Amino acid sequence: MSLYKKHFLKMLDLSAAEIEEYLRVAALLKEKKKAGVPHDMLRGKNIALLFEKTSTRTRCAFEVAAADLGMHAVYLDPKSSQLGKKESIADTAKVLGRMFDAIEYRGYGQEIVEEIARESGVPTFNGLTNESHPTQILADFLTIREEKGTLKGLTLAYYGDARYNMGNSLMVGAAKVGMNFTACCPEKYFPDPALVAKCREIAAETGSVLRFETDPAKGSAHADAVYTDVWVSMGEPAEVWEERIADLSPYRVTTEVMAGAKEDAIFLHCLPAFHDLGTEIGRAIHERFGLTEMEVSDEVFLGKQSKVFDEAENRLHTIKSVIALSLCDSV
Ligand code: CP
Repeated sequence: MSLYKKHFLKMLDLSAAEIEEYLRVAALLKEKKKAGVPHDMLRGKNIALLFEKTSTRTRCAFEVAAADLGMHAVYLDPKSSQLGKKESIADTAKVLGRMFDAIEYRGYGQEIVEEIARESGVPTFNGLTNESHPTQILADFLTIREEKGTLKGLTLAYYGDARYNMGNSLMVGAAKVGMNFTACCPEKYFPDPALVAKCREIAAETGSVLRFETDPAKGSAHADAVYTDVWVSMGEPAEVWEERIADLSPYRVTTEVMAGAKEDAIFLHCLPAFHDLGTEIGRAIHERFGLTEMEVSDEVFLGKQSKVFDEAENRLHTIKSVIALSLCDSV
């Protein structure tokens, strides 16, 4: 199978075998990095990193991956490009496609990254859109596989707003690889029914079981991994905090939730996380609503079952795999 010159836009586009190939190469490149073995097979290539939203992990993973592969990366932040304001997405994509070998985009609608892919003529990678965060899913799956040895047949429980990029992408990814997926949240936060229907079709082929649970005491049953994300995603208005806190506080991942999972279950979070008062937003929420932690308790976040920093490191290795497989005809 070849992933050469392929875009990486959303989990729905990928077969189980392609996901496996990205993970295989990520593990290989991780080993090389740890052993100090050079892997700069993309010397002379250039990648544009187009960010309309802020980032720590995704930006750093793309920049370090590009450097390790011998590439040059150009970072365009939300203020310093003409994208969407003075120049259309199609025109920007055509220009970048003339100068770069690949483009990464983080921003708003999925249609934007799809348009960049169509118009640029070079491999295009989704670094997060409102609907999809596929590079994060590869890091999550690599972390789960490192801990559990497999993905197929495991159960992942997702607590929180399952309608957005992380809930969507984890559900699709789980269905594709034959992993069971439980969304645990109030019914209004369940994923889009049309996407659920598509995932049920995929799951029927792979043996994955999809479950939608409103009782926080039951969501983690049989879970090998418990996952959560922030309650308000990037780009959403600040006014939604009050409603989200009221709706999702019962779905915080606590020691009780972890106790309901398998004894050896791991905890994952794509980060950044609100688990203490170490952030400006966390302190502002504390002043307004009295909360000291939000989607995950500090005890779980810092506890033995938490693999969140291994997961964050794996952003580098998996993003490197995506770039390498798209730009090299053999890795
Ligand atoms: N998980 C993730 O995408 O992190 P950043 O927003 O820091 O890139």
